[in-house]
Amino acid sequence: MKKIAVLTSGGDSPGMNAAVRAVMRSCKHFGYQAVGVRFGYRGLIEGDFIDFRDTDASGIIQRGGTILKSARSEEFRTEEGRKKAADQLRAKGIDALVTIGGDGTFRGATILGQEHGVNVIGVPGTIDNDLIGSDETIGYDTALNTAMEAIDKIRDTADAHERLFLVEVMGRDAGFIALETGIGSGAELIILPEKRTDLDEIRESLKEILKVQRRSTLVIIAEGDESGGALKISEKLEPDFKDYEMRVCILGHIQRGGNPTAHDRVLASRLGYEAVKAIHNGLNEVMVGVINNKVQITPLHETFGVKKEINYDLIELYKVLR
Ligand code: F6P
Repeated sequence: MKKIAVLTSGGDSPGMNAAVRAVMRSCKHFGYQAVGVRFGYRGLIEGDFIDFRDTDASGIIQRGGTILKSARSEEFRTEEGRKKAADQLRAKGIDALVTIGGDGTFRGATILGQEHGVNVIGVPGTIDNDLIGSDETIGYDTALNTAMEAIDKIRDTADAHERLFLVEVMGRDAGFIALETGIGSGAELIILPEKRTDLDEIRESLKEILKVQRRSTLVIIAEGDESGGALKISEKLEPDFKDYEMRVCILGHIQRGGNPTAHDRVLASRLGYEAVKAIHNGLNEVMVGVINNKVQITPLHETFGVKKEINYDLIELYKVLR
């Protein structure tokens, strides 16, 4: 019986479990045996495999985190590390590997495939949403909602004290979370890595905003902004806003946890199934994604190295509505 291994790698994202479940159930559907790899590429190098039983897929669709655990492996970046991983796959009799993760995960999978002829399929799972080949990545929608709910709470206390809050959200070097949570929470300013940050312009905009309203002001900042994140920006702005109480809040890893939204569960279920179907159809070195609600197959090597564009119309939108 063909054996298909599945692993989760890099930063975990809500919905990874739903994707693992879909891989397990789809393997059963196509008559394959599903094998789990714990701790991503680190576990692959160590041969940390789990022979899944049918019951392992039960009761996990709603759970955040990843039952397979995750890791960022330095050793897998080396030729030697990847050789060990390929040897483990061979020893275990694995025919194909499904990797659930982001651009670093896919870069690793691509090289593993090229060097050792491993059949690799990628499933996009990252809260950052920074992968081309899928309109959304697994976990992005949940992270958006988690961040937005947290920002709503910050708005309450900001209103109560009429304060100016700088809120930093995740996204490594991408502004998807910042832009959409900013719109969803009615932020007055949004600072993104995709747009050069001009602090003078920000100072002027803030002054204009504060002139007409002193209720509360929220500035959403993507952690990867070139100006250095919320703490650095607050240091630079503070001298000019002494009349206002300024506070910084960094949302951090709260954005990676929690039960996946319905949207993420459905996306993860679709993509887990499509990954196994891709193997069944003889595909190799591709990522399965969803674009305009249709399944999209993209060569894996095209999914990293190229920056996915944010929707610039949304920047215009938030400026009109703030
Ligand atoms: O890629 C997901 C992500 O949460 C990024 O938004 C963030 O920059 C990074 O991972 C944090 O990684 P770690 O949890 O390893 O510090």
